[in-house]
Amino acid sequence: GSGHDLTEHAVLVSTGGTREPLDPVRYLGNRSSGKQGLAVAEVAAARGARVTLVAANLELPVAPGIDVVPVETALELQAEMDARAADHDVVVMVAAVADFRPADYAASKIKKTHDPADPDAAPSITLVRNPDILAGLVSARGGAASPLLVGFAAETGDETGSVLELGRAKLARKGCDLLVVNEVGAGLTFGADDTTVHVLTRGRDDAVDIGPASKRAVSEGIWDAVVASLHPAG
Ligand code: C5P
Repeated sequence: GSGHDLTEHAVLVSTGGTREPLDPVRYLGNRSSGKQGLAVAEVAAARGARVTLVAANLELPVAPGIDVVPVETALELQAEMDARAADHDVVVMVAAVADFRPADYAASKIKKTHDPADPDAAPSITLVRNPDILAGLVSARGGAASPLLVGFAAETGDETGSVLELGRAKLARKGCDLLVVNEVGAGLTFGADDTTVHVLTRGRDDAVDIGPASKRAVSEGIWDAVVASLHPAG
């Protein structure tokens, strides 16, 4: 680590994966373990920051001293981030937010035979878009410099561009200050212990490449890049 270079900084991190309920017993979810966001939060705390962790369905123990705010859905996560962002110096959106949620919530469990007229029929699920929470934080901040906003993006290169090209485009589109681009592919990243990332900073052409390394070591590198943005040399 790099000592206590985050002392006097308040940091807000989101982690985990949101769950979007269909009925009291079912939800649409994703495979995010929350390990990377937890490591980002724990490294910040170890470097002296006051840390709040908004945790979507996190099933891992959290180091003492971190203020944990449990949430389930994207809308709950958005409400907590929106209410807290302005009180922090840095906001890191690591959570895997569901892009869609079921349009309707059934207050009682959906029955196997949901349509008595057609006992073999299967129900359809209509989805609606969830808000982009990070984009909302960017607009709410307006032209202000604080909080510094850090996004994450899981990318696989494809025919439209390399992982880095896709990351650059996403950084520009999202309007955040830094984007941590996570290389994903078969067997990589989701739930895995080692990871490879490239940290892109708005206004800079170079990328900081980190890993493959533990999520803890990657988090140290991410905070080095964030500290460099908070206190630019020269
Ligand atoms: O566009 P994409 O989903 O790849 O962007 C990922 C980044 O945006 C992450 O930082 C994630 O936490 C954030 N995000 C968000 N709200 C969404 C979807 C993603 O804040 N609805």
